[in-house]
Amino acid sequence: NAPRPDPAALLAWYDRHRRALPWRALPGQAADPYRVWLSEIMLQQTTVRAVKPYFERFLALFPTVDLLAAAPAEDVMKAWAGLGYYSRARNLHACAQAVAAEHGGRFPASEVGLRALPGIGAYTAAAIASIAFDQRAIVVDGNVERVVTRLFTVEQALPKAKPLIRDLADGLTPDARPGDFAQAMMDLGATICTPKSPACGLCPWREPCQARIEGTQESYPRKEKK
Ligand code: ADE
Repeated sequence: NAPRPDPAALLAWYDRHRRALPWRALPGQAADPYRVWLSEIMLQQTTVRAVKPYFERFLALFPTVDLLAAAPAEDVMKAWAGLGYYSRARNLHACAQAVAAEHGGRFPASEVGLRALPGIGAYTAAAIASIAFDQRAIVVDGNVERVVTRLFTVEQALPKAKPLIRDLADGLTPDARPGDFAQAMMDLGATICTPKSPACGLCPWREPCQARIEGTQESYPRKEKK
């Protein structure tokens, strides 16, 4: 049986291999909640590659949440054009206005406070609390589901397995550097623990990964037959 995955091994891997993304702070520096929020909204239905140029342009046009809040809706929609899912842009503008008017231009740091804002659901609240405020929030996206179900050979299928996956992710998340840990899980899923032909030889968790031991990586996560 596999040994327990060590969060410190993943963080050490992240320190060497973290992706440089425009919304990430430099190592050791605090992330800007406005940039983290904007990136998470853009990344909800769009890939990292497609988001990057939009993110840079958007930030040049609206460098702070107060300037975004004060901008005409028309300008915001125009800067969003091409990303699709335009309700996201309308919620984005409403959220900026709520942060500016009700929170003095500063994002709330807690998941509960973030969830009360327009366009911020459970996943996005956890991602912002973790990445921007280094809170120990449990961030589970498709990448994390793949990593966790392979590590522990979770036999239950998605979506039923979601509560179990969340519990397992909670058990892995360290008290120190939870924000880096969440981003490390995302990067591991995006670059190593990929859906097809995962690069297990490069994985910091190859030893404790039960699916790698059994050679069944591509069978996880299990999906409900349609
Ligand atoms: N996908 C969603 N949020 C992300 C993030 N913060 N970094 C990389 N990929 C992501």
